[in-house]
Amino acid sequence: MTSVRNTILVTGGAGFIGSNFVLQWIKNAGAAVVNLDLLTYAGNPANLAALEGDSRHQLVRGDICNGELVAALLHEHRPRVIVHFAAESHVDRSIVDPGAFIRTNVQGTFTLLEQARLFWLELDEADRRAFRFLHVSTDEVYGSLGPEDPAFSEITAYAPNSPYAASKAASDHLARAYHHTYGLPVLTTNCSNNYGPFQFPEKLIPLMILNALEGRHLPVYGDGSNVRDWLFVEDHCSAIRTVLDRGRVGETYNIGGNSERKNLDVVTAICDLVDELRPDAALGPRRKLITFVTDRPGHDRRYAIDASKISRELGWRPAEEFESGLRKTVAWYLEHGAWIENVRTGAYLDWIRQNYQERIPQ
Ligand code: NAD
Ligand code: TYD
Repeated sequence: MTSVRNTILVTGGAGFIGSNFVLQWIKNAGAAVVNLDLLTYAGNPANLAALEGDSRHQLVRGDICNGELVAALLHEHRPRVIVHFAAESHVDRSIVDPGAFIRTNVQGTFTLLEQARLFWLELDEADRRAFRFLHVSTDEVYGSLGPEDPAFSEITAYAPNSPYAASKAASDHLARAYHHTYGLPVLTTNCSNNYGPFQFPEKLIPLMILNALEGRHLPVYGDGSNVRDWLFVEDHCSAIRTVLDRGRVGETYNIGGNSERKNLDVVTAICDLVDELRPDAALGPRRKLITFVTDRPGHDRRYAIDASKISRELGWRPAEEFESGLRKTVAWYLEHGAWIENVRTGAYLDWIRQNYQERIPQ
């Protein structure tokens, strides 16, 4: 029999949400974190610079698809919890290269679940009962809502529309099956769009902040009336900690910010904040940089989350309002020029060229 230590294994903890989670976890729980991350274009050790020299954090560069590596890490560190963030996460990239999404999101999640199950079977009964596998997922698995439809709840039928959403839906089904068939203590969270520090500038909010700052066009897909629900990343991390702490095994929890906004409204709010914090008389108001461009194929119209279950059962609520969270986020990007330069490598510039040069202004 093996017993566990008070360590957690995080996958994808050098990415946007994962790194925010690791920082928050160490600040609050203090327990050690083993961080398995392949350091793809989206993984950035600089996000974890605040933990340099801190023995509670160990970054291991490796692939969740590598079963031998995962098994070796589980046996070496004997974690009591796995929090699984690692994924390919950008919808536009999934349209261009879906294979990478099937590999990491489906095959990788399967590998992790299977190795977790084998490890969990070796534990004594008390540790087996206390073990947790938390699978981090997205609201995009539920598909697209009409303007008057009720928000996604945990019983909304899955209807993924992009290769990204379909790969995450497949991973959710595997997580569910590992609980149902084998009894592995799995928890799943489905969260709406996150924003905040350390988000790679391919996603809407950081991309628009940087373009606005530098006086470049702000490429709004379609007519800009698509709606997303936005949640400040630290609130997502606190929700995950709450679910780990008190969530019922085998259950799914939807997490949202109660902040539905049209894309165009988000972009104009960013323009106004950048104007206020970095006025540029020669440039004038940034709103004039907004350019409507060719839409994303299959673009979901609206996402909205009904987060009443996590609020009712576990007492979690978001702490940050969208307007104050957006202001903090804009300020963070304006103050972190070195971080931005560091992520804008050749690969990043190639992506920006590939995704935007063919989009015709409408
Ligand atoms: P991200 O793209 O910023 O980070 C993903 C991380 O996973 C990176 O550090 C990358 O290096 C790592 N990774 C990728 N492939 C890997 C592999 N094969 N093995 C090991 N590591 C690998 O993503 P994010 O925005 O931080 O999202 C994290 C998780 O949260 C994902 O599962 C995503 O589906 C989910 N999610 C994201 C959002 C959002 O708005 N960003 C919302 C809800 C759910
Ligand atoms: P994104 O940040 O890619 O998240 P997701 O597709 O997972 O919701 O995009 C958020 C919204 O912003 C989405 O409706 C697409 C839109 N969008 C643009 O209009 N222009 C852009 O350059 C990007 C990246 C996104």
